[in-house]
Amino acid sequence: MESLIYLDNAATAWPKPDSVYEFMDSFYRSNGVNPGRSGFDMAIGAGDLVENTRARLRDFFHGDSAERVVFTYNATDSLNLLIRGVVQKGDHVISTNLEHNSVLRPLKHLEREGLCEVTWLPFNEKGFIDPEDVKQALKPNTRLVIVNHGSNVIGTIQDLTAIGKVTQEAGVLFGVDASQTAGVLPIDMHTMHIDLLVTTGHKAMMGPTGIGVLVVRDHVDVAITRAGGTGVRSAYPYHLEEYPWRLEAGTLNLVGVAGLWAGQEWIDKTGLDTIYTHEHDLAKVFTEAVREIEGVTLYVCDDLENHLSTISLNVAGFEAGNTGTLLDVEHNIATRTGLQCAPKVHEQIGTDTIHGTVRFSIGAFNTREHIDKAIEGVREIAEMGQKRL
Ligand code: ALA
Repeated sequence: MESLIYLDNAATAWPKPDSVYEFMDSFYRSNGVNPGRSGFDMAIGAGDLVENTRARLRDFFHGDSAERVVFTYNATDSLNLLIRGVVQKGDHVISTNLEHNSVLRPLKHLEREGLCEVTWLPFNEKGFIDPEDVKQALKPNTRLVIVNHGSNVIGTIQDLTAIGKVTQEAGVLFGVDASQTAGVLPIDMHTMHIDLLVTTGHKAMMGPTGIGVLVVRDHVDVAITRAGGTGVRSAYPYHLEEYPWRLEAGTLNLVGVAGLWAGQEWIDKTGLDTIYTHEHDLAKVFTEAVREIEGVTLYVCDDLENHLSTISLNVAGFEAGNTGTLLDVEHNIATRTGLQCAPKVHEQIGTDTIHGTVRFSIGAFNTREHIDKAIEGVREIAEMGQKRL
């Protein structure tokens, strides 16, 4: 069997750079103890890595204070902390149809508990949120606008600067889910007017699973929604108000932080522009070729301007799940099919009733050969599909 062609990088980037695997292994062997709890050298080394990684991520995202770079389990965990920590009873929240369940469900729960009301904004035919729609949706009690930077289904990249300008002028909080874009696109919390930024470690940030980040600007506070050990001021009966402890309870995922550190080194060395251009060029080759194949429907990618290398399609004659199985079994190509945890995107593009799409998501380690094989795979399945119609 030929080796796997991995085109599921929107689910998790794979493989990771060798330097990430190597650093995680060596650091965990040399300093894999509890950071911030004890004063022996190994523990101090572990704590230094954690604090240096906070500072590095602060610089990477142009945040404010390093201690306000908070480590979490993943983007979903960060988004739960963010949403539960800023929305108060009687608030109005604006979000979009592009969101992942990590935003949809926490907000739906708050709505069901009678705590807030949410306006869901549709995207236009090109997959973008109109900043003017955000402006029109504002109410006197709007506390938070929360949007997805890059869609995990259709790949469109939102104009955060324009949306951020609207939120800044209105004096409402701007939260961004950058799970699909951090490590591929530059993100500047200051120029984009982002108050709260979320991402996960295991996608383009090139870290492992089990580590996420929430970056909180200095002028914003996120309420404490969980409490526990912090390693400092142990006699105090309540959870600490100070960052980062305010939002971190219990022992950190140290090996995850080590992976994030090494991921940052790799990103810095490679360059965001090089990463984005490589992936984008491959996405262009893929879409231009499959667009010409009879029976292939591409979703929201007439052109790839402001578009990640995440492409959704269907092949006539097959449901998305069956196409995915054929790609896997017959061609050894890994994709993700179905609703990709983002049901509102599918409702809007009309694929909710046909069991979603087949998503090809290209990553930093994909090659032209992978893409050529993926095109051939789609072509063969489309020919089979035509015979079934
Ligand atoms: N959110 C990830 C995806 O889109 C898991 O596949």
